Amino acid sequence: MVPRKRLLITRRLTEAVLARIGRDYEGVLNTDDRPLTGDEIVARAEGCDGVICAPGDPLDGDVVSRLPDSVRAIATFSVGYDHLDVAAAKQRGIRAFNTPGVLTDSTADITLLLLLGAARRAFEGQRMLRAGQWAGWTPTQLLGRSLAGKRLGILGMGRIGNAVAHRARAFELEIHYCNRHRLGADRELGATFHTSPRELMRGADFFSLHCPATPETHHFLDAERIDWLPDHAIVVNTARGAVVDDAALIDALRSGRIAAAGLDVFEGEPDVHPGYRALDNVYILPHMGSATIETRDAMGHRALDNLDAFFAGRNPPDSIE
Ligand code: DGY
Repeated sequence: MVPRKRLLITRRLTEAVLARIGRDYEGVLNTDDRPLTGDEIVARAEGCDGVICAPGDPLDGDVVSRLPDSVRAIATFSVGYDHLDVAAAKQRGIRAFNTPGVLTDSTADITLLLLLGAARRAFEGQRMLRAGQWAGWTPTQLLGRSLAGKRLGILGMGRIGNAVAHRARAFELEIHYCNRHRLGADRELGATFHTSPRELMRGADFFSLHCPATPETHHFLDAERIDWLPDHAIVVNTARGAVVDDAALIDALRSGRIAAAGLDVFEGEPDVHPGYRALDNVYILPHMGSATIETRDAMGHRALDNLDAFFAGRNPPDSIE
């Protein structure tokens, strides 16, 4: 019998995924789910053929360069892979995989939740109720912003951007987007294409970020670009915290230049810039975009599909280079 491959699983995964790992692999598990340091990952990977890692794991160039030679594949339990130095892995001949496609809907759902939460002042309403401070309905209490007829600017019209557009149409938002490539009419569905972020942003009552964190997009939304947005625009970020310059956005939220923000991701997670916590006009969630049972199961299965294919000598569906 062929010995089972050994996998380091850096975080606790869902029951269904752990069951499949237990059936098909020898799993080295992180049962208490404490984030591992780089040194711990290197040590626990000893004798492993592959690693399943996750956002927040410090798989930078140094850690990847110190992984044991036995490691031939790394599958990240995520679509984003800014926590994994793919070039360093490639240099060592380690293949890398992610899980695109399976978290599109849940991330788009949470984008709409943030957009609505920010526009309709959900945080302030919740707080008032929970503190027992609601004195009853009044005509001017917690007035937010309507969606219908406004423009939603989507930066990055990949799978998630598209799914956001699909949902936003039901709220009668006008869809505008900027993307490396213009979509075909069958996918654009009447959305307006802009050739530059600046052109997109200057009319965007709502602005939603859907671009990966790369050196090129680092702090994309800085003070200069915030100024491209109309007065009282609402910003939503379910992509990565690093695409926003927190200090600049906090200044703009404080002054009211930006009416509100809905944020699911933060630079330097799990730390959150303290400026956000002090503001009433931010609706924040702890990186929950893909946090449904169905999606997390699907992500785990997708990671395993990639590893199964790789170890069986087949073509894995989601190679990242
Ligand atoms: C991802 O997959 O990149 C998400 O941020 C995790 O939910």
